[in-house]
Amino acid sequence: MTKITKMFRTATIMVGALTIFGGSLQAADDVNLYSARQPFLIDPLLDAFTKSSGIKVNVVYLKKGMLERLKSEGLNSSADLILTADIGNLQNHVDADVLQETSSAVLEKNIPAQYRDAKGLWYGLTTRARVIYAHRDRVKADEVKSYEDLAAPHMKGRICVRSGKHVYNVSLLASIIAAKGVAGAEAWARGVKANLARKPQGNDRAQVKGVFQGECDVAIGNTYYMGKMATNEKSPEQKDWAKAVRIIFPNQNDRGTHVNISGAGITKSARNKAGALKLIEFLSGDEAQKIYAERNFEYPVKSGAKVHPLVASWGTFKADAVHLDKVGAQRTEATKIMDRVRFNN
Ligand SMILES: [Fe+2]
Repeated sequence: MTKITKMFRTATIMVGALTIFGGSLQAADDVNLYSARQPFLIDPLLDAFTKSSGIKVNVVYLKKGMLERLKSEGLNSSADLILTADIGNLQNHVDADVLQETSSAVLEKNIPAQYRDAKGLWYGLTTRARVIYAHRDRVKADEVKSYEDLAAPHMKGRICVRSGKHVYNVSLLASIIAAKGVAGAEAWARGVKANLARKPQGNDRAQVKGVFQGECDVAIGNTYYMGKMATNEKSPEQKDWAKAVRIIFPNQNDRGTHVNISGAGITKSARNKAGALKLIEFLSGDEAQKIYAERNFEYPVKSGAKVHPLVASWGTFKADAVHLDKVGAQRTEATKIMDRVRFNN
C-alpha cells in the first residue's frame, strides 16, 4: 500500500467516528446547535456550559433561514437543538414539525408555565417586554397608559413603529387577539395605523431615533434595546436616542404588558437529545441567566434571578399572564389582520 492510500484510509476511518458540523469536526457526544441568536451573547453561555459539563457544543449561527435549513435537512439534520427569539419563530418551528417533545423537572421548576410549551416542544430562556417608548417632555404622564391608547384620536400622527409584519409586532397583535378577539384586535390595528407618523420602516431602535428626531412622540419597542442604546460605545449617538425617551409599561391597570421570550427547542433529528436537554437546563439556571441579563439587558426567565441594574431602573411591571401558546396560536390571524388594515402601506 502506498503512503498516499494509507493516509486516505485513515481519513475515511476518521469520518466514520467524526462528522462535519459547521466546518468543524464533531464527536458523537458533542451537542450541535443552530442559533438565530448572536455570537456575542451565545458564545459566553456555551463556554460556561462546556466548562461546567465537559460537553462541547458545535454551533452554527444562522441569522436568517434557520427553519428553511432544518426543513430541507429533515431527519438528516445534525442539529440537536435550536435557539431563537420570539414565540412566533418558535411556533413556526413547531408547525413545521422539526421539534420534538421532551420533559425535564429542572425546566419545569426554572421556567414559569406560561413561558414553556406544555409538551416541552419549546422552552423560554429569557423574557422581554414590548413597551412604549415615550418622549420625556412631549408625552404627558396620563396620555399613554395602554396599547389601546395608541389607537385613540389624541395620538394622531405621533407613533413610530417597525413593520407590522415583523414577528415582534405580529406577536403583540396576537396577544391582543388573545385578550380582545379578532374584531377588537383588528379595530386596534386600524386605529394605530391611522395614528402613524410615517410608514412602518427600520428596526425597533430606528423608532426611538424617530422620537429623538421629533418625527413622532412615541415608539413601540422591546425593552432590551433601551439598555443596548443607553450603553452603546460603538454608536454613541444612540445614547442620545435613549435619553430622549422613557419606558411606559402598558396595561398595568388591566391585563398587563405583552411579554415575549427567547427560547430553545430540541430538534426531531437530534442524535444527542440528552446533551441538548442538559444545555437547555444549563441555560435556564442561575449562571446562564446572569449572563443573559448582564450581556443583553433581557429579563431572566427564572424567578428570583437578578436583572441588570439598568433594567431594574425602568421599574417593575405586571406582565400579561396569557400562556404564550395562545399567542403563538393567533399569529396567522394576526398576520391576516395586518394585511386587511394595510398596516405597512
Ligand atoms: Fe430584537
